[in-house]
Amino acid sequence: MTRSTQSASRKILVTSALPYANGSIHLGHLVEYIQTDIWVRFQKMRGHSCHYVCADDTHGTPVMLRAEKEGITPEQLIARVWQEHFEDFSAFHVNFDHYGSTNSAETREHANAIYNKLRDANLIEKRSIEQYYDPVKQMFLPDRFIKGECPKCHAKDQYGDNCEVCGAAYTTSEVINPYSAVSGAKPVMKASDHYFFKLSAPSCQQFLQQWTKSGTLQAEAANKMQEWLGEAGDNKLTDWDISRDAPYFGFEIPDAPGKYFYVWLDAPVGYMGSFQKLCSAKGINFDDYWKQGSDAELYHFIGKDILYFHALFWPAMLQHAGFRTPTKLFAHGFLTVNGEKMSKSRGTFITAKSYVDHIRNTEYLRYYYASKLNGTMEDLDLSLEDFVAKVNSDLIGKYINIASRCAGFVTKRFNGKLGRMSDSDIAALRTVKYGDALESFGQAITKAEANLYASAIGQKLDGARETIIASRIKIAEFYEARDYSKALRAVMQLAEVANTYVNHFKPWELAKSEKEEDLSRLHEVCTTALNMFKAITTYLSPILPVTASKVGEFLNTDVLTWNSLDCDLLDHTINEYQHLMTRLDPKLIAAMVDANKASLQPAPVPHSQQRHAEAQQHDTSKKENNIMETNNYITIDDFAKVDLRVAKIVNAEHVEGAEKLLKLTLDIGEENPRTVFAGIKSAYDPEQLQGRLTVMVANLAPRKMKFGMSEGMVLAASGDAPGLYILHPDTGAQPGMRIK
Ligand code: MSP
Ligand code: ZN
Repeated sequence: MTRSTQSASRKILVTSALPYANGSIHLGHLVEYIQTDIWVRFQKMRGHSCHYVCADDTHGTPVMLRAEKEGITPEQLIARVWQEHFEDFSAFHVNFDHYGSTNSAETREHANAIYNKLRDANLIEKRSIEQYYDPVKQMFLPDRFIKGECPKCHAKDQYGDNCEVCGAAYTTSEVINPYSAVSGAKPVMKASDHYFFKLSAPSCQQFLQQWTKSGTLQAEAANKMQEWLGEAGDNKLTDWDISRDAPYFGFEIPDAPGKYFYVWLDAPVGYMGSFQKLCSAKGINFDDYWKQGSDAELYHFIGKDILYFHALFWPAMLQHAGFRTPTKLFAHGFLTVNGEKMSKSRGTFITAKSYVDHIRNTEYLRYYYASKLNGTMEDLDLSLEDFVAKVNSDLIGKYINIASRCAGFVTKRFNGKLGRMSDSDIAALRTVKYGDALESFGQAITKAEANLYASAIGQKLDGARETIIASRIKIAEFYEARDYSKALRAVMQLAEVANTYVNHFKPWELAKSEKEEDLSRLHEVCTTALNMFKAITTYLSPILPVTASKVGEFLNTDVLTWNSLDCDLLDHTINEYQHLMTRLDPKLIAAMVDANKASLQPAPVPHSQQRHAEAQQHDTSKKENNIMETNNYITIDDFAKVDLRVAKIVNAEHVEGAEKLLKLTLDIGEENPRTVFAGIKSAYDPEQLQGRLTVMVANLAPRKMKFGMSEGMVLAASGDAPGLYILHPDTGAQPGMRIK
């Protein structure tokens, strides 16, 4: 028995970034959560104490506005999204020890405590600043909710901080004719008190200079930080605005009523909050992991887009609030699909749920991502064609194949019982288990095959003393370094070794023989091959936890752990082989991509006849019955006659002598704007309307009115009660877009 000389059990706390509670989990996110989960499973399998926590990132303006739009409270929204996120992660076997929410008592307490410590250390400062304010919606506008004309290339309707047309970056105050993406209103500058974390303080700058160079970051990330921080003494960092004004969904700042912590202040504190919950449930000592001087290891897995927050703000907060700082940040790159950014129009913006609905087996994706991950910040490509090829050739063709070719003989010929192994079989197995002892294995096989094994494990055969590297140690090193691609390359080569072994001894030939010695050889060969399969399964188990547990059942063994690599299954009863994994059918991928494209199309409007028949069949809702009774249908062709457009109200003014009308100038992307007289004077002040988007009928015959020509009509809703409401398209709609 070889005992691994692993150092004593480590105490490790691992996090993945907290996904925003205003969107679904997609395949991009999963690059991170799958990567983290594999690492955590690896650490646990090695016998270390490792806790993995995460949570939904619930606060901020987008969550608030989305809840409002859906007509529910933010708390209701985040509860629903939490459930969805949790189900998505579970489906991909991302096994958190606790999955919480930043909107928790624990996170609030830690956020308050950290804030108080920073304030006591004179690192919080109150300052009045001017910011864009939406007078209609009565709220300050985050940059991403301001739109307008690009100051460089004059493209219309660009975001408040950068232009998608020319790529320029600027500040919101430079935007020409800004408007609120929330209400369309023209924003006004308004002053308000904000709270700042004084990152410009020498103590912060000095600390970060040292911390970012101390090996906590990947080289690439450390360089990036160097750019942001400058040289020692440059003091390039500016103070960080950590407060937001009401209305805001978040934590109210303890000593500043009406002011809330900016979402990024409490988001990383959510790591602590979630861990605190785990501590309460499991009796873990929180301080052991978080107090300054703790000997536990703390790792944050993050995407490269949020490095700034994790490598500057977060360690500075922790350091000055008396907590330990992260041991290391593990930043990764972004997912592309078929070499391009995920795209809704190409059908490659794929949600976790959509993958599950179409492909079902989530271990395929875990395997594929693992085969591409290498611990760097490089982007990672999911080539859908390569995905199918790799899953089928590696997992089915190389890995599953070992078991499926041998298992039946054990059941049918040996009563389901494994036997013994010859010396040369033991040597062959050792090659797969540890990568050592090839020299004796070399005697049982041809020189050419020996060479294959050697090159498989990455070593040259060296004359008579044929040794290969100890793959067990190497594979562990690759996992530890998050270089799963190298780990898998080694493991797949071991699978090739095992296949070569099976091909060499041909159990299917031995099984045909009547001779006693061939039968006993068959028993040995199957026993050896299945023990090889066990070892390879162990190596793969952090990536394929479900398959590994099925293999455990099949081989009738409790654990497939690192230490159990040492123990062989001899004279041991196994269970009948059940199908472990099916080939990935490329048709499923095509259907998934199609479905994601299709979901963008407007839902097909059933033909009136069909609709009629359907309603009769189900006789469900009252509404449907009403429609049936009045038979108030138009055909899709009738509807298509109306040319509805998104229009931007570039100007609105009173009309001399008109009681009800306002004169609107509407941009619908044509060369000249349209003039429309709209009967909405009772409900709107002209200033309120300027810059807003609305909906107009663009192909209404022009009508000569008392005050001039009206070239269309804007739509407004009204009911029995007084009040008139013009329509407003969702964020992102552009003037001229057709409504259909
Ligand atoms: N809420 C913040 C994180 C707060 S951590 C205290 C956030 N959320 S997110 O939902 O936008 O992203 C969550 C994680 O997924 C981030 O680490 C992000 O980098 C990662 N990814 C999101 N889209 C991704 C890809 N397309 N590709 C790879 N990772 C991506 O950021
Ligand atoms: Zn521009």
